[in-house]
Amino acid sequence: MYNTITLLGIESSCDDTAAAIVRDGPDGRHILASIVEGQTSLHAAFGGVVPEIAARAHAERVDGCVAQAMAAAGLGFGDLDGIAVTAGPGLIGGVLAGVMCGKGLSAATGLPLIGVNHLAGHALTPRLTDGLAFPYLMLLVSGGHCQYLRVDGPDSFTRLGGSIDDAPGEAFDKVAKVLGLPQPGGPMVEAEARAGNPKRFALPRPLLDRPGCDMSFSGLKTALLRARDAVIAEKGGMTRADRADLCAGFQAAVVDVMAEKTRRALDISQVSALAVAGGVAANQAIRAALETVCANAGVRFLAPPLALCTDNAAMIAWAGIERFRLGERDDLTLSARPRWPLDQTSPALLGYGKKGAKA
Ligand code: KG4
Ligand code: ZN
Repeated sequence: MYNTITLLGIESSCDDTAAAIVRDGPDGRHILASIVEGQTSLHAAFGGVVPEIAARAHAERVDGCVAQAMAAAGLGFGDLDGIAVTAGPGLIGGVLAGVMCGKGLSAATGLPLIGVNHLAGHALTPRLTDGLAFPYLMLLVSGGHCQYLRVDGPDSFTRLGGSIDDAPGEAFDKVAKVLGLPQPGGPMVEAEARAGNPKRFALPRPLLDRPGCDMSFSGLKTALLRARDAVIAEKGGMTRADRADLCAGFQAAVVDVMAEKTRRALDISQVSALAVAGGVAANQAIRAALETVCANAGVRFLAPPLALCTDNAAMIAWAGIERFRLGERDDLTLSARPRWPLDQTSPALLGYGKKGAKA
């Protein structure tokens, strides 16, 4: 008999404080409430997430998020089976704020505590949204992460490859910055690219000549900067059309690299479904290219709704439910782990953790 399990999830590993209630039972999976409080405005003046400011904001807001989620779901703690909390990877101060909140609630209510890996939350999301069966391939593409994971079970992940330097979202954001577009840059670059000629600037397709599915975006970003400087040197400035062509050229290079590396990752993993997660998965050109790759390979393509692709606590509650069903529990000795690779057997990525830990 498949019993009903209801968990509270708490997330605070980067710049979103979030709490959610998810219920899983014989009649399916339900997100009863999902509250996300972003911190974009707190960090805007600094050009990136400031760990100390983030940690303080999480500590101030996490209780309120939990209260809001409980109220929105119309539940009391007596209706819950447990509390799942992100225990890493991420900015240590933020993760600690969430873990302390989870421990406090667990101690006060007697509910079991379940520590969740934030990346597992992303990677298991297509099971929450679509009931996707194992095994499948996950492409996680965000402002801080870029990796292909073969997912074989709630606790079984194999990293097949990923970026050896910048995450693609980070590259989109830097390109926007050097072209004078506002942040977050990804959507701006995509919008500009629509009117541009992707062939005008010959930009590199890094690492395509190497086997496997590792990627690199740092050199591409530098090539874009050089192309921009050449335009400015020649004309004394950039026109709207120049900017659109630069955006289109950059995006086309990212699309080409991701399409080819995805083809290879599918080849290596031999699974029948690919799911994407992370903010960059919102990019229509990237989505379309991945859809084509999947169609050609006869593989199902899944892209959960954007609110569940970016950071949220419903994915943490869901990953907690998966661990709970395996009989796994933590206790008040649970510690926050700033670094916590999903796949403990593969070598660490070169750039892992270099620029902060937003996943
Ligand atoms: O997963 P996410 O919300 O959190 C972080 O990792 O920060 O991803 C945010 C990233 C940003 O770098 C943003 O520029 C990028 O996702 N992004 C996009 C698009 N929408 C968001 N990149 C390319 N095209 C988009 N449409
Ligand atoms: Zn994340």
